[in-house]
Amino acid sequence: MRSIDYDTEQHQNYARGRALSQQQLQVWIDAFAAVLPERRPLSGLDVGSGTGRFTPALAGAFGPVTGVEPSVRMREVAQARAQHPDVRYLAGSAEDLPVPSGSADYALLFLSWHHVKDKPRAARELARVVRPGGRLLLRANFSDHHPRPWWLAHFPRGYETDAALFQPLHEVIAMFTAVGWRVASFGTVTEPSPGTYGDMLERLRLRTLSFFGQLGPDELEAGFRRLEQAVAANPGAPAPVFAEPLLTLELS
Ligand SMILES: C[S@@+](CC[C@H](N)C(=O)[O-])C[C@H]1O[C@@H](n2cnc3c(N)ncnc32)[C@H](O)[C@@H]1O
Repeated sequence: MRSIDYDTEQHQNYARGRALSQQQLQVWIDAFAAVLPERRPLSGLDVGSGTGRFTPALAGAFGPVTGVEPSVRMREVAQARAQHPDVRYLAGSAEDLPVPSGSADYALLFLSWHHVKDKPRAARELARVVRPGGRLLLRANFSDHHPRPWWLAHFPRGYETDAALFQPLHEVIAMFTAVGWRVASFGTVTEPSPGTYGDMLERLRLRTLSFFGQLGPDELEAGFRRLEQAVAANPGAPAPVFAEPLLTLELS
């Protein structure tokens, strides 16, 4: 994978390109609630919190949250957004979490795992900061359980290129179980439609997905040309939904 430096790319457009509606956000919060302990408050970590897409909603639903994010620019965007009194953002990474041992009831990694460079170290570090019985919510893609968003097929080698960004599921599970995690559940979550095909095309043009960083200029041009032709046939119809994997691990 060509690594993405969020300090030099994506940070300006990420919040717009990857915005979630209130209904979409609620579907995720409900999915997390279903696999978290019932007591409140829970102390949470949003690891790779980015522009804070989830952090305030996590605080509202479960209790105080620390967003940990290595990119200064992404953190700046998060901090400039509406604040929640139970949210703080800190510099750090999954490999180096700036919080005490056993201080979190859960950690969420929402599409940040594939960016983590030293994964075995991150799996150990997450086991250090989450208390025994705590949960790790891993919203990741897996090369062998990869979602098929409708637009990907329009890009040359789109599906293969996108799936190659991710590890197979068994490899991720082996990495975590080696350091004390066990699988609590594995399933998928389907967000409500993000809007029309036309809306989605506008967002995709902002290229706030690691996938676009893997393509050459010719592939990008060919893909967007094909996508525009496809969308032009029905721009106002609701964009199709697709199922997104969520792996939940529990610390023994
Ligand atoms: C696709 S964004 C996801 C952001 C946020 N979780 C969301 O869903 O909007 C990936 C984020 O992971 C962060 N990241 C990169 N390397 C990381 C690491 N080693 N540990 C934690 N986060 C990392 C990036 O800076 C970026 O903000």
